[in-house]
Amino acid sequence: MSSEKGKRSRSSDKGKASQSPEPADPPTLRVAEIVSALSQALDFGSGSPPWHSVRTCILGMRLAAELRLGTEQQNHLYYALLLKDAGWTVNPAGENRRDIFAIRCERGGTLARLMRLPEQTAQSIACISERWNGQGNAQGLARDQIPIASRIILAAQTLDMFAITFGPEPAMRVLVENTGLWFDPTVVKAARSLEKRGRLWKGLEEPKLLAQAVSLEPHPTVVSDSDATLDAICQAFATIVDAKSPFTFYHSNGVANAAVAIARKLGLDNSRVLFVRHAALLHDIGKMAIPNEILQKSTELTRAEWQTVHAHPAHTYRILNSIRGFGELSEVAASHHERLNGTGYYRGLTADQLSIEARILIVADVFDALMAKRPYREGMAREVVLQLIRSKTPEQFDPDCVAALESSGIGGDQSYIDLHTVQAQLGAAAGRRR
Ligand SMILES: [Fe+2]
Ligand SMILES: [Fe+2]
Repeated sequence: MSSEKGKRSRSSDKGKASQSPEPADPPTLRVAEIVSALSQALDFGSGSPPWHSVRTCILGMRLAAELRLGTEQQNHLYYALLLKDAGWTVNPAGENRRDIFAIRCERGGTLARLMRLPEQTAQSIACISERWNGQGNAQGLARDQIPIASRIILAAQTLDMFAITFGPEPAMRVLVENTGLWFDPTVVKAARSLEKRGRLWKGLEEPKLLAQAVSLEPHPTVVSDSDATLDAICQAFATIVDAKSPFTFYHSNGVANAAVAIARKLGLDNSRVLFVRHAALLHDIGKMAIPNEILQKSTELTRAEWQTVHAHPAHTYRILNSIRGFGELSEVAASHHERLNGTGYYRGLTADQLSIEARILIVADVFDALMAKRPYREGMAREVVLQLIRSKTPEQFDPDCVAALESSGIGGDQSYIDLHTVQAQLGAAAGRRR
């Protein structure tokens, strides 16, 4: 993972003239903080209690220290603990339970690789369903064949899940009773030792969980807003969100591609184009809180179901806003269902409260959503979609953004475009302007 001094250009002004100068002291973006905060979305996706991934990370790092794992091993373990449920949004149809576990574990590993995390981290995630006695659900590995990180993750996540539901004592009993079956005896011994000294369960309450998890990263990694690692993390979480439903597959990619096309046409600075891309990739992360039954429902939603759907930008805001340096990004990302005349949700913002970046995202989101097939209707042709958007412009949509969308020629492109390609396009455009 790359490591450099963090820097994010920001424009916190409301309204259209939001291409403001750089702040005097830009915040540092900590990768640990970004991944820890985004792991809240994985808790939604796996049906786990809030902050389960972060608490599992804290417990697992305590076990690793007790087992005297080396710093490098601890670093691989750290991100594996936070991302252990990354593959959980995949719902393979028609597979048996063992196959579903294997597919989800493998996908978790693939997503870790997409985030440019070390291979050991990806392998550790791919093996979290293995059991000490070889009766696991994935590859049937046993004992030392299972990476030590995976053995620690299994113990840590079990401790947290049982402690949240039944309390610490029953949680430890599950570990002890399954020693040598599910769990590595040395890991269980470490957990008992920590518990006896009062160091296992200490400080696992909100509100300081996030800060505590961040402080446990062995090699603190910081990134800038143009760093490939940051882009890869946004891309991976976009993939996780989109996997929730076959009907939204690639939606975040589609929104990001449309938003970048509009931003480039409007002549935004390169750093702002990347900012818009990241906001677009993460805009629907709050959708992880919406149950699949609602997302995939082909009939009319009930009033209560609509309320759940309408709350997703608020979840997007809460998750992203817990990351230092993501203040403006959380505002823009959470504004994607707002409308200039105040008829949108979830805050009913009006034109003077919506920055140019938010306006771009609003148009990009509706464009991709209308172009794509949904459970209740087929996808639409580009000209039909543009006609629909035009009919609500300028009341709901920014006319400059709509004109930029039209002239960009983009047509529902949901393909994965990596940062290198985007930067090459931005470089070429800058060259043409000179
Ligand atoms: Fe949305
Ligand atoms: Fe969306």
